[in-house]
Formats: sequence, C-alpha cells, structure tokens
Amino acid sequence: MKNNKQDTDKKEIYSRLLAQAKALLEGESDRIANAANLSALLFNGLPQLNWAGFYFLREGELVVGPFQGKPACVRIPMGRGVCGTAAARRETVVVDDVNAFSDHIACDVDSRSEIVVPLVAPDGAVIGVLDLDAPVAGRLDQADRDGLERIAAAWMEAVSA
Ligand code: SME
Repeated sequence: MKNNKQDTDKKEIYSRLLAQAKALLEGESDRIANAANLSALLFNGLPQLNWAGFYFLREGELVVGPFQGKPACVRIPMGRGVCGTAAARRETVVVDDVNAFSDHIACDVDSRSEIVVPLVAPDGAVIGVLDLDAPVAGRLDQADRDGLERIAAAWMEAVSA
C-alpha cells in the first residue's frame, strides 16, 4: 500500500544514498570499482531487495558486472528480458509484478518486482544497465525510479571523467 509517508521516506533514503554515492565516486573513474561500490551501497541501503547490480553492453549483449545477491544470468541479448528492454528502449523500466512481464528472465526465483535503469554515456550510447530486484510485488515505483536515475547519472559522470 503506497502513501505519502512512504514516498517521503523513500525521498529521504535516496537523498542520503545519492550523497553517499557521490562520496564513494569522488575522484574515481574506474567503471568496475564504481559499479561494485554502488551495488553494495544500494543492496545494503535499500530495504527489501534480493539483487542489485550492473550489466555492461559487450558486442550486442548485456554481460553481468559487479552485483550483490545470488549468482545471476551472465548474458542477456539486447531487447530481451527487463534488462535488454530497458537498454533497447533507452528508458527506465519498472515491473510491478515480474509474472506479468512476459519476457522477464528469472535469474532468482525470489524476484517479484524489478527496476532497470539504462546507463547512457554523454555521447548517447547505452553502455549497460543498473538492475534492482525485490522479493515483493509492487516494491519498486516512481520514487525508486527518480532516486536510481540520479544515482546512475552520478556513476556515469564519474566514469566519463
Ligand atoms: N530479470 C532480469 C534478468 C537479470 S536478473 O534479474 C539479475 C531480466 O529480465 O532482464
């Protein structure tokens, strides 16, 4: 059940996480190092998640990068699954209930909702995605989208330096 209180709480959590992310990214441009630290920050800083991490685009496929959670699918073709859909559309995809998303790729049977934010470089190229899975349907929403898009932008700015 969503209400204004939960939205305010999420905004506060994301405001704190963005500040922590910027501190972790400060002065560091290595993609893997920064993806590893942000995965750990998000997985430990947000409630009710079972997976948080990155996929990077390599020769037309998304290949798993740093993450927290159970072992995941290694390769996802562009346009397939929630990850490949977000990358191909170049826009964030929020899935309230993965059972209702016909092309969802089940890496972890515990996943019930998911959000995938594309990582778009300054030249406009998609270089990967940030993916979060939750074991609760409806857990991820517009407030998560706003917060995670800001954090993904901070990662992109750091690795583009
Ligand atoms: N569910 C994703 C696959 C990646 S895992 O969730 C880590 C998808 O459908 O693309």
